Amino acid sequence: MFTPLTGEIRLLDPGAGLGMLSAALVASLLAQDTPPTAITLTTYEIDEAMLPGLNQMLADVADVCSRAGVTFVGELRNEDFLEASAAAMSGDLFAAGVEPYDAVILNPPYRKINVDSKERELCRRIGLETSNIYTAFLAMAAGLLRDGGQMVAIVPRSFANGTYFRPFREWFTASMIFNRMHVYESRNRAFSDDAVLQENVIFHAIKTTDRPAEVIITSSADPSDLDPLYRKVPYDELINPDDPAAVIHIVAGDLRRLRYPSLEQLRRLGERIGETLHDQRQLDRIISEELFAVSGDDQTDPIRVRERIGEATEALRALGLFRERS
Ligand SMILES: C[S@@+](CC[C@H](N)C(=O)[O-])C[C@H]1O[C@@H](n2cnc3c(N)ncnc32)[C@H](O)[C@@H]1O
Repeated sequence: MFTPLTGEIRLLDPGAGLGMLSAALVASLLAQDTPPTAITLTTYEIDEAMLPGLNQMLADVADVCSRAGVTFVGELRNEDFLEASAAAMSGDLFAAGVEPYDAVILNPPYRKINVDSKERELCRRIGLETSNIYTAFLAMAAGLLRDGGQMVAIVPRSFANGTYFRPFREWFTASMIFNRMHVYESRNRAFSDDAVLQENVIFHAIKTTDRPAEVIITSSADPSDLDPLYRKVPYDELINPDDPAAVIHIVAGDLRRLRYPSLEQLRRLGERIGETLHDQRQLDRIISEELFAVSGDDQTDPIRVRERIGEATEALRALGLFRERS
């Protein structure tokens, strides 16, 4: 989900576990057309049982980077992430020259935090009142990003609405915009070991106050469903700028009703378009054949046809499946 990261980059993985997310992220960065020249990866993990595995992962990633000619510095901090970041953000460490991060990837812990807990107190230090540790992680991680920095997180979707999470939504959306949102429709915690049944989202967010015009929402039944549905919605539909509660409307169910192309259809379309050089009429015909065959839309309505072709082309581009014709 990250947009390409080049040059010398600083990555953060708070609550890293065995470092699987970081390993996957670095692998995808090395596969970019222009990989970064240098990567610094900081991981935080408090569970001693995870440390040998995490250390091994950092060593493996260093090895892969070195073979790719990319400088890599891996850092394992066996510290409480909330404590360290609250200290950084309340001035102590930033003042001492701690650099903000270009990108953060996280699958944070999930549990309620009591009003008088240490975690709540740490959140108050950055002006946030929140009742779950996962939203505390999201807020602290956002605070450590540079302007324009990116975040990919897998979290329960409970933050999207409800009064408990309202202060968090206000805090988070004051500096972050959502660029892409993936929703798992089944109620289980996709990449977690806790037993709480939750609907999960993976989102890509950017640290900026510039609200985009649109946001991409995809949805799949669960992680084994390889054919997600795709939809682009006006940003104001995701978060109404006039809503003081900043409710985030992730309406995955709508996707099924709207008969938008599935990822598999788009992929097939991308392959057909990419194989040979087509002129615009051929391109339009292929797109219509692939999409209208399943959508049941009226193919005689030229405006609808153009809209469909536009949507499909945009979707392909956004998903990196569209090979531009030279
Ligand atoms: C849901 S697991 C995710 C692990 C890993 N990111 C993954 O996706 O496989 C959350 C991790 O955060 C760690 N953790 C919990 N509280 C923490 C804290 N305050 N500071 C640092 N790590 C913490 C846990 O030990 C656990 O390994």
